[in-house]
Amino acid sequence: MPGYVVLFNNAFPNEARPVTFENFAKAIEAFEATLITPAAPFDQYLEGNTHALDDQQKSGLALFMAKGCSSCHNGINLGGQAYFPFGVMKKPDASVLPDADKGRFAVTRAVGDEYVFRAAPLRNVALRAPYFHSGQVWSLKQAVALMSEIQLGTKLSDREENDIISFLNSLTGRLPKIEYPILPTRTNTTPKPSIDR
Ligand code: HEC
Repeated sequence: MPGYVVLFNNAFPNEARPVTFENFAKAIEAFEATLITPAAPFDQYLEGNTHALDDQQKSGLALFMAKGCSSCHNGINLGGQAYFPFGVMKKPDASVLPDADKGRFAVTRAVGDEYVFRAAPLRNVALRAPYFHSGQVWSLKQAVALMSEIQLGTKLSDREENDIISFLNSLTGRLPKIEYPILPTRTNTTPKPSIDR
């Protein structure tokens, strides 16, 4: 599509034939690098603004650490750093852990990796239902209760669940403003997509 050739030429001015898969990946990578969500209340709190979290959120943070959530959900994205079994203390039922999806096992083929998944990063988690790899849990309250039960073997009280949820809400940052591009249109000579199967 000629429109794309022009855009690729502009984006990669030092290359004779810039329309390559490699450059297409670089362009997407450059765009994705802008998709950051800074200044969540929790970030502001860590930077020293003690009023950025309210009392309930502070209590939720304390519980998040004391109960052990932060042993798996840690680092800059509160997760995403390691893999863990989904169900350390207790195996969840098949509705949230369907038999067919064995997680890491599909990659490593190691028996110990059956039903092992990445500890989900919790930034912006309040905006991201449904939860877990199976996408079968639609409320954050249910997700928190389930985590506590299956990963830590503890049942949280209603107040503890609400406090933790209130803390998780403080992980919502400022979303990027995206201006949607008008994509080049096809011409009569543009080949139709061909899919080799
Ligand atoms: C043993 C490690 C471990 C502990 C402890 C743990 N989690 Fe998780 N958490 C995970 C893993 C692994 C996943 C991803 C599971 C999946 O994709 O099915 C996850 C997923 C989640 C999700 C869903 C996020 C999403 O985007 O789908 C939430 C919410 C969550 N954890 C909160 C908590 C809270 C709150 C606690 C403490 C009560 C906790 N976790 C304790 C490992 C842990």
